[in-house]
Amino acid sequence: MIRISVIYHSVTGTTKRMAEAICKGASSVNGVECMAFPIESPDAEYVKESKCVILGTPVYYASMSGTVKMWFEKTRGQFGLQGKLAGAFATADYIHGGGEIAIQSILSHMMVSGMMAYSGGGAYGKPVIHLGPVGIKSDIESYVETFRIYGERMAMKTLELFG
Ligand SMILES: Cc1cc2nc3c(=O)[nH]c(=O)nc-3n(C[C@H](O)[C@H](O)[C@H](O)COP(=O)(O)O)c2cc1C
Repeated sequence: MIRISVIYHSVTGTTKRMAEAICKGASSVNGVECMAFPIESPDAEYVKESKCVILGTPVYYASMSGTVKMWFEKTRGQFGLQGKLAGAFATADYIHGGGEIAIQSILSHMMVSGMMAYSGGGAYGKPVIHLGPVGIKSDIESYVETFRIYGERMAMKTLELFG
């Protein structure tokens, strides 16, 4: 079984909900299992064994939350991130609130960690997810399907690369 870890920061539950939707999609791919962890307490062994790590953030000030940025700075080397497939997602209050900037910033941090950034982009057609999925809190249930599909795409690429 190929493992995928979804690590999220969530204070009011929105990003957690989307992490679960991604995991549901990833787990639906044969040969892949997925677990979602709050950023405060990931299972280090499971993350280390994962071939793909997907990180989720609430958008704070049009960027990743301080907690997510601190995670990179504090856990350097701890999870053996190098060589793994990398994905990122965000939730926000506003469609123009900076979701994609937050995702891009996380993907940059992941590349600095030696990871391989991926989203599927426009290659699969609709829903087109260029950098990673962004969900808007006030209408979050309407984004579940897009996040599920994103999880499925990340899992298929993980399987293709590492299966
Ligand atoms: C300190 C702070 C800064 C925020 N900044 C933004 C922002 O720049 N753009 C935006 O769209 N939403 C912003 N939000 C809203 C959160 O991104 C949004 O409510 C998110 O879905 C919360 O995720 P959670 O429920 O997982 O904690 C901010 C919220 C907080 C607490």
